[in-house]
Amino acid sequence: AAGPARAAGRRVPFGAAIQSELMNGGPAYRQLFVEHCDLVMPMNALKFNLMRPTRDIWDFEPADKVVDFALSNGKTSRGTCHVWWGATPGWVEAIESPSEAERVLVEHIERVGDRYKGKLLGWDVVNEVVANDPIYENRSLRDTYWLRTLGPRHIPIAFKAAANADPTAELALNEYDLEYKGPHYDERRTIVLSIVRQLQDANVKIDAVGMQGHLYADKVIDVDAIDRFHRDLDALGVKLLVTELDVIDWKSAPDPQAQDKTAAALVTRFLDALFAHKPPELVIAWGLTDRYSWINDVMPRPDGAESRPLPFDRDLRPKPWLDVIRKRL
Ligand code: XIL
Repeated sequence: AAGPARAAGRRVPFGAAIQSELMNGGPAYRQLFVEHCDLVMPMNALKFNLMRPTRDIWDFEPADKVVDFALSNGKTSRGTCHVWWGATPGWVEAIESPSEAERVLVEHIERVGDRYKGKLLGWDVVNEVVANDPIYENRSLRDTYWLRTLGPRHIPIAFKAAANADPTAELALNEYDLEYKGPHYDERRTIVLSIVRQLQDANVKIDAVGMQGHLYADKVIDVDAIDRFHRDLDALGVKLLVTELDVIDWKSAPDPQAQDKTAAALVTRFLDALFAHKPPELVIAWGLTDRYSWINDVMPRPDGAESRPLPFDRDLRPKPWLDVIRKRL
């Protein structure tokens, strides 16, 4: 497949996710995506539980809105995600039989993959399958419905189904907390590499690893470890993408200017670590404006001030982190 399109002068394409209900967020809001992005992707609409509230419903309309918007504006798009603990429908979790669960998983991935064949650069096939704290929990994979029902083989099953449905789609394992210093994070990186090797040893196609890049202002980005991780993936022939970039500044002082400076510095440090070896394939922000960031919903600041995770503020004014994107990509 052709590589992702990029704006003139940009080494690496830049994209952003958008909630499909915000496609009605007004012309100025939509214009941000048109002007600043090479890729626009559905943030939630391709998740299993939203598309398949019941076994018989396949609701493609919200995702189509975003994908059609992207393609008709000359952008690319990508899909997230087939397997995620946070998006398994209740009707699936009620299935106890492993063979039935496997049938449902494969049918879902094949039909959805086929539906968007040729429209998406690729897919996060599995999202967040690594244990949150592997050393403390003494397990490498996260305890999920899919792991309990099918075991670790749900991972190759999902990748094979995705490859069957769309042989040219770039198939990725997507994961968070791969950016920081410490044994906990070293272990998470090691587990990702071992999943990649196991898939390859079994001749199952995996093309990329997505680093989500939710950057915590109170954690230390490990530049050397990121560089090593990038080189290790490259040696395996696997690409590296940044899939959900934003900044979680909930423990910093509630000072907008200081927050924006910190955010730009974190994004710079992270991108520099990735670029040390070679440019990542794609960098995607998890939204564009602070007004609609998941951080303010899911991890609100304890002091009640607003988090400022994204490259534009709530009034759609560009912030320093947009300059970082402009200069580095
Ligand atoms: C989040 C979305 O941003 C929210 O709108 C939604 O309610 C829940 O999911 N890691 C992921 C993303 O892989 O899919 C999550 O997105 C954020 C954390």
